[in-house]
Amino acid sequence: MAEIDRYRPDDKRGVEALYRRVFGHDAAEASRLRWEWQYRRNPNNPGHEPEIWIAREGPAIVGQYATMPVKVAIRGQQVQGSWGMDVMVAPERQRQGLGEVLFRTWDRHVGASLGLGLSDSSYRLFQKLRWPDVGPVPCFVKPLTRRALRRPNWPVAINRLVSALTLPVVKIVARTRPLAAEVRLIQRFDDSFTQLWEDLSTKFNFAVRRDAAYLNWKYVSAPHVRYSIAALRRDDHNVGYAVYRHLHEPRGRVTLLVDFLADPDDPAGFSTLLRWIDREARQADSDKIRAFAMHAGFRRILKRSGYFQVKSTMEFVAKVNAIEVEPDFYQDTDTWHLTLGDSDQDR
Ligand SMILES: CC(C)(COP(=O)(O)OP(=O)(O)OC[C@H]1O[C@@H](n2cnc3c(N)ncnc32)[C@H](O)[C@@H]1OP(=O)(O)O)[C@@H](O)C(=O)NCCC(=O)NCCS
Repeated sequence: MAEIDRYRPDDKRGVEALYRRVFGHDAAEASRLRWEWQYRRNPNNPGHEPEIWIAREGPAIVGQYATMPVKVAIRGQQVQGSWGMDVMVAPERQRQGLGEVLFRTWDRHVGASLGLGLSDSSYRLFQKLRWPDVGPVPCFVKPLTRRALRRPNWPVAINRLVSALTLPVVKIVARTRPLAAEVRLIQRFDDSFTQLWEDLSTKFNFAVRRDAAYLNWKYVSAPHVRYSIAALRRDDHNVGYAVYRHLHEPRGRVTLLVDFLADPDDPAGFSTLLRWIDREARQADSDKIRAFAMHAGFRRILKRSGYFQVKSTMEFVAKVNAIEVEPDFYQDTDTWHLTLGDSDQDR
């Protein structure tokens, strides 16, 4: 039977080899590029010891559960949470109970065990272990050009027809609107964003603590992607932010609204940030903007700003261990704040 314990520095090569076997060469290379940043430099990991559990059989590594420690505000209390991320079991050892032992070991050590954007096998295992199923996190798309509605699996003639028919609607949705407050591009999050988090955190029944240290780690020093950051300002104070980037997808150019924070009870604030993103997306020649949002207030403002809700594949499970919560806590997620920036979804 395998033994489970914490990651040690000399496990690196064994873990990399297993990662290549389970996820393939490209994913393994991408993981290698992120590894130091993702596991050692996380500010919620002050000892710099990666929060990774390893399954060993003698000298062989047959599984791992690699996680991202985060502080989570849950109904006004701070809990030591953990995103489960790169979980894997050697192909010849799968479906023999090892995954379950890894999931349970992780769960025993953390105040809240959280999973986002799961593979089919891990989602089924979470279900089998009866983790509360909270997701998926709703996905929203705002079309900016007639190319936004193209589908690669449709014939050219159908794509042209759909583009022509929907163009008037796209033109109305995508029209430029004035900004109601000042928005400024920033390079780093200063301490005022920690204060902003302190001011707003009680508005969310569930949200990862978005203090300056976390935000700078996640969105300024990530080695694999470059983000733009816009700060929303009122009376010389930072009262919100949006993190975004532009990329090419097979269906066209997309602007991803990766993360944001503003007062959900201040529609003018968040909609100003959205109007800023509209301009940036248009300047980058994007065909559409995509965002994920769980909070009902933010969802409402997204819809009013021309976003349409589309099918989401971002499954979300959460299990709170550190404090007592009733089962209906997991059902009423209207005041939970989750975005594409949570866990390691944007990679
Ligand atoms: C997810 C994973 C770690 C589970 O490890 P495991 O040792 O196979 O899991 P266990 O044997 O403890 O549990 C098996 C249960 O997991 C689920 N499961 C695992 N593999 C599955 C698969 N290929 N298809 C469907 N369900 C699967 C089922 O609920 C299964 O229960 P069952 O055997 O009674 O049907 C392993 O399948 C794996 O490495 N998958 C590939 C990598 C991956 O997808 N990682 C997740 C990234 S989010």
